[in-house]
Amino acid sequence: MLKSGDVMENENPSAWKKIMVKVPGTSANCGSGFDCLGLAATIYNEFEFKFLEEKRVTISAVGEGADTIPNDEKNIVWQSARLLLDRAGTDTINGVEIHMNNRVPMSRGLGSSAAAIVAGLIGANAAIDNYFTRNDILKFATEIEGHPDNVAPAIFGGFTVSVVEKNQVQTFSFLPKIKLKLIVAVPDFPLSTKVARQVLPKTVPLKDAIFNISRASMLIAALIEGKEKFLPIAFDDALHQPYRTKLVPGMEEVFAAAKKSGALGVTLSGAGPCLIAFSAANKKLENAIASEMVQTFKKFDVQSSALILDLDTRGAVVEAVS
Ligand code: HSE
Repeated sequence: MLKSGDVMENENPSAWKKIMVKVPGTSANCGSGFDCLGLAATIYNEFEFKFLEEKRVTISAVGEGADTIPNDEKNIVWQSARLLLDRAGTDTINGVEIHMNNRVPMSRGLGSSAAAIVAGLIGANAAIDNYFTRNDILKFATEIEGHPDNVAPAIFGGFTVSVVEKNQVQTFSFLPKIKLKLIVAVPDFPLSTKVARQVLPKTVPLKDAIFNISRASMLIAALIEGKEKFLPIAFDDALHQPYRTKLVPGMEEVFAAAKKSGALGVTLSGAGPCLIAFSAANKKLENAIASEMVQTFKKFDVQSSALILDLDTRGAVVEAVS
């Protein structure tokens, strides 16, 4: 999208720098906000880029899923970077060296693919002196991922409300007045979003649509106004979670156990299989909820581990350019 006469800075590849990008894991839906709401959490994947003039793609990874990540030009981080570079009309960057340190569990509903897409876009954009805005990045990321509910919080941080209208995406990002802890039970099995969408009905009863619209609206209002007492109702969902319970053994029971231990709300994280309990900040309470969730999963022969996270407030950041 360079206009005629525009000159891109850093055209000399030898001047290109190392770019470090840090992207948070995310949770889509937040229960009642199916395909619209999302949040970013304090768990991060880090990416180090060195863009090259030569046509070579070298990718290395440590951490979550390191052995399964494509290490050639099919890699989604590079594909996303390539899309942005093509949209900018630059043909001077033809390759890349990428090293990633992945902490976000893969295929668990914590936005690992969104993190990869956003990293590729933001890293490449930094290489061309941030030619595009964050809203442009959101548009490209949504185009690649197919929906905005993970990429939006990965880009902007906080809680996000995203609306797609005629190929345009609008996102509001906000920080709640309530300090919420996110207690995530991470089962030891992956679940593909494709499979988790196949179990959903094509149409839903009007009463279920009303159920969700009212709760999602209440959730945003309660978070913004700091009205904690409404959260136990506001996270509830009738549009996707009831159909997905069969994919996550023990889901209903883990939800009940977390609530019994004091959670303010419980949701499937994105398309699952991670489950999230939201609680007030209190170490004893957080640990008790985490332990109950893991123990309850065990009763259904599901091994899991627990993460206790905060809401990320910044979204993706370019950490260092050296
Ligand atoms: N909103 C999507 C779903 C999230 O629930 O299918 C997928 O990451």
